[in-house]
Amino acid sequence: MLSTKTAEKQAKAVNQASKTPDNVSIKAQRMGFEFDVQVPRYWLENSHFLSHTMNALSVLFPQGEQFFVDSVRAFRDQISDPKLKAEVRGFIGQEAMHSLEHSAMNDHVRDQGMPVEDMEKHLTVVLDIAQKLPKRHQLAITCALEHLTAMMADMLLERDDIREGMHETMRPLWAWHAIEETEHKAVAYDVFQTVEGTYAERTFYLAFSTAALGIVGSYFTSRMMLNDAKHFSVADTTRGLWRLWGKNGTFSSLIPTWFRYFKPGYHPWDHDNSELIARFKAEIQSYIAPQYQSGNRKTLQ
Ligand SMILES: [Fe+2]
Ligand SMILES: [Fe+2]
Repeated sequence: MLSTKTAEKQAKAVNQASKTPDNVSIKAQRMGFEFDVQVPRYWLENSHFLSHTMNALSVLFPQGEQFFVDSVRAFRDQISDPKLKAEVRGFIGQEAMHSLEHSAMNDHVRDQGMPVEDMEKHLTVVLDIAQKLPKRHQLAITCALEHLTAMMADMLLERDDIREGMHETMRPLWAWHAIEETEHKAVAYDVFQTVEGTYAERTFYLAFSTAALGIVGSYFTSRMMLNDAKHFSVADTTRGLWRLWGKNGTFSSLIPTWFRYFKPGYHPWDHDNSELIARFKAEIQSYIAPQYQSGNRKTLQ
């Protein structure tokens, strides 16, 4: 016969929709990063190509993360697990903060003469189309893109060579974003499972979203590079492409992780990397701007 304690434990496991480990807390924090003349134009490995690739990624964040928030919020009422409910609150807050901090970076990139506003208009067109899909399909897109961001976040925190290639004025933004993407990597996924999202939906949208991100990301990077064509160099671009897609490349090394999502019964926390959060969290907190050190209530809607 089961003891009451064991029975309670089992009942909790069945009812608990959240599978985020208990040592991970998901809380929003405004950072107040500032980007000024001290940020070099080619802040990533001193490379024209690599810096514009990451600038292009940053332009995607504010609107992309708003899409993530809307797609999760649409199912908020269907969540009964109090732990997952709290995590959804944390997820929404964190993504809202990422939008604000990346908007500050994007303003800086725009001030360097990059066509950020044009690119944002084009992104609006793409996201408007995505928003015509059924709500659960939109959530499947969010789960897929959260898988991609969690993969990149894990790599950024795990690999010293990636962080060390970033100029010190940019590194805190990307490290902070990577920590929070790791913290909330399973929230959209757990909501998707709660509302009975299917294997076919989630895997189809991983392929679909990866292709869409590849097309839009490449287009944005090309726009940035064209706008800054006078500093274009074949050698730099070839080196950058090798850095991304060559042996042990930033993106090529992620391919096996990308495929893990196709495993039936997959869960983002099958790979428990919560140790990375603990490793970087204290250091990153020292970058919180003084006005946000006692919380960030004013900036949360
Ligand atoms: Fe984010
Ligand atoms: Fe995220």
